[in-house]
Amino acid sequence: MKFDFLAGKAHQPAAALRDRLPRIAVFDSGLGGLTVHAEIARLLSADLIYVGDTAVFPYGRLPERELIERVSAVIGEVIERHVPDIVVIACNTASTLALPVLRAQFAIPFVGTVPAIKPAVAGSRSRLISVLATPGTVARDYTRELVSEHAKGCEVTLVGSARLASYAEAELNGVPADDADILAEIRDAFVEKGGQRTDTVVLACTHYPLIAARLEALAPWPVAWIDSAPAIARRVTSLAGDAAASMTKATGRALFTNAAGITPALRAALKARGIHDVGFLAVPV
Ligand code: DGL
Repeated sequence: MKFDFLAGKAHQPAAALRDRLPRIAVFDSGLGGLTVHAEIARLLSADLIYVGDTAVFPYGRLPERELIERVSAVIGEVIERHVPDIVVIACNTASTLALPVLRAQFAIPFVGTVPAIKPAVAGSRSRLISVLATPGTVARDYTRELVSEHAKGCEVTLVGSARLASYAEAELNGVPADDADILAEIRDAFVEKGGQRTDTVVLACTHYPLIAARLEALAPWPVAWIDSAPAIARRVTSLAGDAAASMTKATGRALFTNAAGITPALRAALKARGIHDVGFLAVPV
């Protein structure tokens, strides 16, 4: 069965949404979804609640059944306690697996995040494309179907990185990883074949744009890096309705499942992104 993960269900904004800010939960395993949160905050005014499941991060290493159960438990808690109008799963690792279950379980609109294969294919001249993602996303049937359906005429290299998401978190926490360690995670995405080189790399993990400048600086040669966050934000805006885009006040809060991980460095990084209110969400592991 095939799902249109990015699009979500057809949905008309509820009448109530016309006279108040839409409440939108943006969820990820950790801090990566902040790249999606930033795009949404740029496009529309909303009561944004960022949710990072930092108690269980990284998701990329989890067995599928365990991941589905965990995501469903955290989202259930968020819906019950905070009653969002829309939930954005700002995580490829979770979206490529758990969205059908979430949609069946909870009657609110979900917007997912999946590897941006189509725009990569559209923009590639060398026809050599790489998808940089977590080991979980690379292994998914959904990802492989996306490639076989949309990447005709291109050779796609799937690269599963075990550590890059953690390096991105470390960077945001003020402890940047070494150049050599980052390069070791991205090197396989750079392929030379038949006189051609990879010219497009899909950032199929929402953490990676957090270290976009370092990826660009360390790349063996220049490539186009494709980030799906702007497309997700546009989709959220169309679900939330035009009224939200014209309202003025945006609010930002963040909740994390690991209280000990809420360090002063993280608070400062969140503040720089307009998130001043940071709290703990209890979801037993
Ligand atoms: N940010 C998540 C994604 O987009 C993955 C990070 C993790 O392994 O938890 O896939």
